[in-house]
Amino acid sequence: HFSTTPSAQREIQSVIVVGAGLMGAGIAQVAAQAQLNVTMVDLSPDQLQKGRDIIAASVRRVAKKKFPDDEGKQSEYVDRTWSFIETGTKAEAVVAGADLVVEAIVENIDTKQKLFMSLDAAAPKHTIFTSNTSSLPIAEIAKVTSEDRQARFAGLHFFNPVPAMKLVEIVKTDKVDTETYQSLVDVTNRIGKTSVACKDTPGFIVNRLLVPYMMESLRIVERGEASLEDIDVAMKLGAGFPMGPIELSDFVGLDTLKSIVEGWAREGKVEPAFVKPVKQLTDLVAKGHFGRKTGKGFYEYVGPNGARVG
Ligand code: 3HC
Repeated sequence: HFSTTPSAQREIQSVIVVGAGLMGAGIAQVAAQAQLNVTMVDLSPDQLQKGRDIIAASVRRVAKKKFPDDEGKQSEYVDRTWSFIETGTKAEAVVAGADLVVEAIVENIDTKQKLFMSLDAAAPKHTIFTSNTSSLPIAEIAKVTSEDRQARFAGLHFFNPVPAMKLVEIVKTDKVDTETYQSLVDVTNRIGKTSVACKDTPGFIVNRLLVPYMMESLRIVERGEASLEDIDVAMKLGAGFPMGPIELSDFVGLDTLKSIVEGWAREGKVEPAFVKPVKQLTDLVAKGHFGRKTGKGFYEYVGPNGARVG
């Protein structure tokens, strides 16, 4: 008889974050701030350095906010956060000590499946696998792992900027067991975020609503009904959004937005009107103008991730 009471559940203490981009670095940071042992993994020392730079800037900001008038406490907080972060270039080599894996690598099904297949062979039985994907079905990624692992394989979807956004979507495939789900709820709380549960459906909750809204704002421009700026002002002042939909598209990344919509079109599970392409979006992405991160999207920025200039 195996107990399925909560006592069978292990507390998550050590986390491997695979991918040191904006999302991976943010996830590693918030986990370390919550004093979980984190190993951030990426393919090269260069990519890891970029991740460290993202964390360094953001953790300083968090420390300043936490201890506004005490520089000593600020640097103590920064140092303590770093003391919980290690880095590496081979996930398989460090997964033996992990309770949780959070994958935040490129949005490519083959690359993700390859990673999880090799991690499945190297990881302890109890290790929970999660993906931060925003455009691929979790079950599709998970299916290359063993049946046992699929019961411990869920979506863990964070939002940009990770240190500031308080939500995490926990995506449950049909195979995820109760202990795994509960462990993910607990670790999300520990990180200081609120979780919501969602089935493994296109866009989960947030993107399913946000992406059609962003796309329709671009169609308003395409039809010549309002300007970019007026749409943003309208939604900020008329609906209380912190950013208008066009600014938000640049912020999320036009390449990301386009690939989510194309993924949905391929799957054929959402309303066809929601996935109708927008020419200006296609053209900008083709030119490498991905939004804020490249210094140009619908608007222009001082440089990659810089302030807006036009
Ligand atoms: N690191 C640490 N803290 C940060 C941060 C960062 N990178 N970015 C913002 N913050 C904190 C600030 O310290 C500040 O905290 P406070 O209000 O407690 O003092 C707070 O966030 C607000 O920041 P600012 O005052 O500097 O700037 P704004 O008020 O303009 O807010 C914003 C910036 C939080 C980005 C806000 O504009 C916003 O919420 N925008 C919408 C973001 C959004 O919708 N994200 C989700 C996109 S969808 C997604 O990610 C899913 C994916 O799958 C596509």
